[in-house]
Amino acid sequence: MQDILESVVVTLHAICLLIISTIRNCFPMGWLLRKDVRGQTVLITGSGSGLGRLMAFEFGKLGARLVLWDINEQGNKETLKELEAMGVEAKAYTVDLSEYKEINRTADLVKSEVGKVDILVNNAGIVTGKKLLQCPDELMVKTVSVNTNALFFTTKNFLPGMLESNKGHIVTIASMAGKCGVAGLVDYCASKHGAVGFNDSLASELYALKKDVKTTVVCPIYINTGMFDGIATKWPTLLPILSPEYVVDCIMEAVLTDRAFLAIPKFSYIFIALAGLLPTEVLNLYGDHFGITHSMDHFKGRQSRQA
Ligand SMILES: NC(=O)c1ccc[n+]([C@@H]2O[C@H](COP(=O)([O-])OP(=O)(O)OC[C@H]3O[C@@H](n4cnc5c(N)ncnc54)[C@H](O)[C@@H]3O)[C@@H](O)[C@H]2O)c1
Ligand SMILES: *[C@@H]1O[C@H](CO)[C@@H](O)[C@H](O)[C@H]1NC(C)=O
Ligand SMILES: *[C@@H]1O[C@H](CO)[C@@H](O)[C@H](O)[C@H]1NC(C)=O
Repeated sequence: MQDILESVVVTLHAICLLIISTIRNCFPMGWLLRKDVRGQTVLITGSGSGLGRLMAFEFGKLGARLVLWDINEQGNKETLKELEAMGVEAKAYTVDLSEYKEINRTADLVKSEVGKVDILVNNAGIVTGKKLLQCPDELMVKTVSVNTNALFFTTKNFLPGMLESNKGHIVTIASMAGKCGVAGLVDYCASKHGAVGFNDSLASELYALKKDVKTTVVCPIYINTGMFDGIATKWPTLLPILSPEYVVDCIMEAVLTDRAFLAIPKFSYIFIALAGLLPTEVLNLYGDHFGITHSMDHFKGRQSRQA
């Protein structure tokens, strides 16, 4: 009797939580109360271009102090210069995230020169864009090192400080490639599934610890930052290539309202739900229809600047 009663109570509680989160997720952007990040330290990896740079500007506008990590020293300096021109306090570090010893060394430097990190944004990422049999071994290993393994080591260095003060936020920029498979993206998809798995277990470890450290994982489809230059979908109105500005607006809303999971655009949620239910034959049919199966056929990627 006791177990049935308790199960009913838990289920009622679950329904309340479901209603609350559904209502929250339906609010238009900018309606929910946003948390204050003034004076907080935000570390962004991959801040030398694309989403990382734009997020640095947004956090800077809100009064945060920025710590910029990138392997691309030149690009990172440009981000730093613009932040300084905006009157934002910031510091740039050149670091290769595929080397975990370098992550540790740079993290120690940050702790002594800047102090505790309040928000860690794991954003740096690379893509080879080659099919499995054509992809050089060392490039595949590198993809996993930067897109997955680096998450372990940045977080291992900055999470203890967050746990100590019982406040903090770990943001992981994954991808819809972390929720499905795409031809020509074998190493990338595997690494982004790793990033999604990292988020889920980290969130669950934090939940078990009853600590107030938040996690957010972001899964966008293609964005025209240059990283995926050359890709195409068959029906751009149905399956658009996103603008980095729009993606960053969505990310800022999700982080500042402590949302655990963000997929962009919105119909991705429907896709994720269906992908778990539909047979492979049906998914392949739609993959062909939307042009996803061949989206990587003319991939060029970043042509310059990438170290
Ligand atoms: N562009 C897209 O279509 C797309 C889609 C979904 C998810 N994402 C993800 O968004 C994130 C940002 O991508 P973006 O589009 O802004 O790309 P980007 O190439 O503009 O930015 C990535 C940054 O990471 C840095 N970086 C790469 N390797 C590094 C290393 N070893 N050490 C340190 N820094 C390194 C690069 O120098 C670059 O500044 C990535 O994780 C990417 O996988 C991108
Ligand atoms: C890197 O730093 C983390 C966190 O402090 C530590 O657990 C790990 O042992 C360090 N690794 C190396 C190789 O120093
Ligand atoms: C990330 O973890 C949170 C908390 O467990 C979960 O709600 C969310 O769905 C996870 N994201 C993904 C993409 O699985």
